Amino acid sequence: MSFHIVPIFAAMLKNDLILKAARGEKTERTPVWLMRQAGRILPEYRAVRNSLSGFKELVETPALAAEVTIQPVDILGVDAAIIFSDILVIPEAMGLTYEMVEKKGPHFPKTVEKAADIDKLKVADPSDLSYVYEAIKITKKELDSRVPLIGFAGAPWTIFSYMIEGGGSKTFSKARKLLYTDPEMADRLLDMITKSTIKYLKSQIRAGADMLQIFDSWAGVLPPEHYSRFSLKYIAKICDAITEVPITVFAKGAWWALPEMADLNCRTVGLDWNMNPKEARKILPNKTLQGNLDPCALYADNESIKQETKKMLDAFGDHPHIANLGHGVYPDTDPNKVKFFIESVKELSTH
Ligand code: CP3
Repeated sequence: MSFHIVPIFAAMLKNDLILKAARGEKTERTPVWLMRQAGRILPEYRAVRNSLSGFKELVETPALAAEVTIQPVDILGVDAAIIFSDILVIPEAMGLTYEMVEKKGPHFPKTVEKAADIDKLKVADPSDLSYVYEAIKITKKELDSRVPLIGFAGAPWTIFSYMIEGGGSKTFSKARKLLYTDPEMADRLLDMITKSTIKYLKSQIRAGADMLQIFDSWAGVLPPEHYSRFSLKYIAKICDAITEVPITVFAKGAWWALPEMADLNCRTVGLDWNMNPKEARKILPNKTLQGNLDPCALYADNESIKQETKKMLDAFGDHPHIANLGHGVYPDTDPNKVKFFIESVKELSTH
């Protein structure tokens, strides 16, 4: 008889509620975190950010990125940290640099307009993003196993949109046009982004990320057929390649894609506030669901926040659930309201 000693790679986490929920296990209460919790709302974040030249310097300075990653754990009491970075580091590592324009958002001085522009890009080399892995390592050390650390990347379609549009857009018509006029070119770029993202996420895991989320922020602008063909297909490749840790896929606005998402190799599906948790549960009986309080509910008074939180928890029922908002927390939200939401989830979901 031979003995197999199972090595314990990761230090035991003191609070692993999110990982348990992501694995579909029962938890003593519903875990909670917020998309875009790092930055945006905390004055403590602003203080660090204002001491620097801008957003990018913060992203590229690992010790400070780690500091603002941990702030919401200390200040808000969330059950997970998410590494402070941006989805746009991938296009940059592929050769398309971005600027973060104060109060406006991201801007790409050069965009992809024609096939020759793709020839100038490369599949990102994981070493191009070593500042992110360094930030993950520092964060893990400083978190000292208090809560799990979430790594992330943008979905290929969302990254593709930025590389074509050069920034945000109301219609995404340049990016969407290409899907009709030159699908081969679109596939070539989406494939390069997908390969870059897989390497990047694997490096995040090696650095210490306990779970991952893929943000498909602009999923909702595509017609269903294009969504399967140009977005989900590439998300599926990423999910198939990542076997080490649980993945969450958040496809904002793509309610019609939920049935197809049942077949993704991901543990958790994120819902936005337009989606009905009860319907989603019927469609996805075997996934953990995440979400989905309307971020605007946090503008209301505490009593209403509690009522809305209760309604949300009831709608998700007694199935594996990770409480969150239906999209990132809005920048002008009062941090005390966020804290109240988190405390309400903890109180109302304790059995
Ligand atoms: O969740 C977290 O708190 C971790 C950090 C994080 C940031 N961006 C930091 C950030 C994450 C997960 C992202 C993801 C991201 N970035 C997405 C997907 C999520 C979503 O909300 O849909 C998208 C679409 C982007 C692109 C991006 N970055 C935009 C449109 C902007 C400008 C507007 C804004 O505030 O979101 C950014 C800038 C950015 N990324 C900030 C932060 C904290 C604000 C910049 C600042 O401090 O001035």
